[in-house]
Amino acid sequence: MSSTVIIGAQWGDEGKGKTVDWLSERADVVVRFQGGHNAGHTLVIDDTVYKLRLLPSGIVRPNTLSIIGNGVVLNPWALLEEIEEIRNQNIVINENNLKIAENVPLNLPMIHGELDQARERAAGSSKIGTTGRGIGPTYEDKVGRRALRLCDLANPEALDNKIRRLLTHHNALRRGFNLKEYTINDIKIPLLEIAEKLLAHSCVLWELMNNLRNQKKKILYEGAQGTFLDIDHGTYPFVTSSNTVAGAAAHGSASGPNDVGYVLGVVKAYTTRVGSGPFPTELFDKTGEYIAERGHEFGTVTGRARRCGWFDAVAARQSAKLSGISGINITKLDVLDGLKTLKICTAYDLNGKKIDYLPADSDLAEQCAPIYEEMPGWSETTAGIRHFEKLPKPAQNYLRRIEGLVGSKLAVISTSPERNDTILLEDPFKE
Ligand code: GDP
Ligand code: IMO
Ligand code: MG
Repeated sequence: MSSTVIIGAQWGDEGKGKTVDWLSERADVVVRFQGGHNAGHTLVIDDTVYKLRLLPSGIVRPNTLSIIGNGVVLNPWALLEEIEEIRNQNIVINENNLKIAENVPLNLPMIHGELDQARERAAGSSKIGTTGRGIGPTYEDKVGRRALRLCDLANPEALDNKIRRLLTHHNALRRGFNLKEYTINDIKIPLLEIAEKLLAHSCVLWELMNNLRNQKKKILYEGAQGTFLDIDHGTYPFVTSSNTVAGAAAHGSASGPNDVGYVLGVVKAYTTRVGSGPFPTELFDKTGEYIAERGHEFGTVTGRARRCGWFDAVAARQSAKLSGISGINITKLDVLDGLKTLKICTAYDLNGKKIDYLPADSDLAEQCAPIYEEMPGWSETTAGIRHFEKLPKPAQNYLRRIEGLVGSKLAVISTSPERNDTILLEDPFKE
């Protein structure tokens, strides 16, 4: 395969960043196709930790081209700050190795971030638990045909009218939320200050992708968030505002469906979720605390504690079908070291009826009680193991059982945050 898409197959934070970074050794190009700086992807390379939000996880490889696709929502200041941070870690980032689709919509913190936060405050206990980064409001503006896009910065004369259209909508909302109204200059001046820096990376993405394919470059499409945060297929309304399933990789990177080859679905060996919403296998006991502590389950973006639970094979199987997953990548196996017994959810009990899917209606999903099967755990440490046969037998059995229940081939296993503590069983780039 000359291209691979990597997606989260649970509720985000599955360890996509680590896998993209590791696999990008075999790739020429990494393209982010959705989401924004709500994402937090952590890479650990020889004890150096890189925290990425908007930059594709290929950025740390000197010979890899990194692309921010049109499906992303881009906060220019967040990106510039991130570029500075990563440059300070001795990574080269310039207009040759970072390209941004000219038609990417701009996420403006003074508008979108503030609106997101105002809505969450007003929602009280029914809040979604967003990252407060204005991701939803930006996608709304994109679909509402009033968003500013990167290419607009190249034509300052036409900006006033575009900003006026945006503000007609937002000032009305802001009045309702008791927020200060904006003038055109409040938006235009800060944008023009950074326009040049940003435009240096601008590209015509459909053309660039086509050229890269013609040159037979190996392309990795990097997803953010996870299946059950997908705007259509997730636990709506407790979701993010983009499509996170593999199908989104094509249109979010100006490519066609045939251009996306192998689909690697990343799952943790257990389950986590940040923010509100249904989570059938959530643990509220000592085991949940044990997993949270060993897995350092605190969000990269907001520092919030992640909710933890057992592996949910029902949800993972649904995810595999939704994305046509070719192979699965199970991460954080080492976190389960030391647990005597492991549980895997194989079905739900919905008010006395056994079902094998996560219902679209979140009220029903909330009522799903997990039906578990138990497997023996292991006392040995798996951290850092790089060969499947070296894993304790019960760990091998656990992984194979997940593979069977999910119905997709076990392709990659991760046993620590470090780049190379990874077991490859099936190469997504194999021709
Ligand atoms: P992403 O959003 O899917 O890229 O995942 P995050 O980076 O937000 O969260 C995953 C966290 O787990 C990061 O801190 C990683 O460094 C860490 N991690 C990834 N794989 C492993 C693993 O196999 N074992 C352990 N212990 N940590 C891992
Ligand atoms: P990565 O790429 C985990 C969650 C938020 C909230 C919901 C909506 O690191 O896996 P948003 O700000 O997107 O409108 O919030 O989605 N969320 C994530 N949870 N990992 C992420 O990204 C997330 N991005 C958004 O916590 O519940
Ligand atoms: Mg994350």
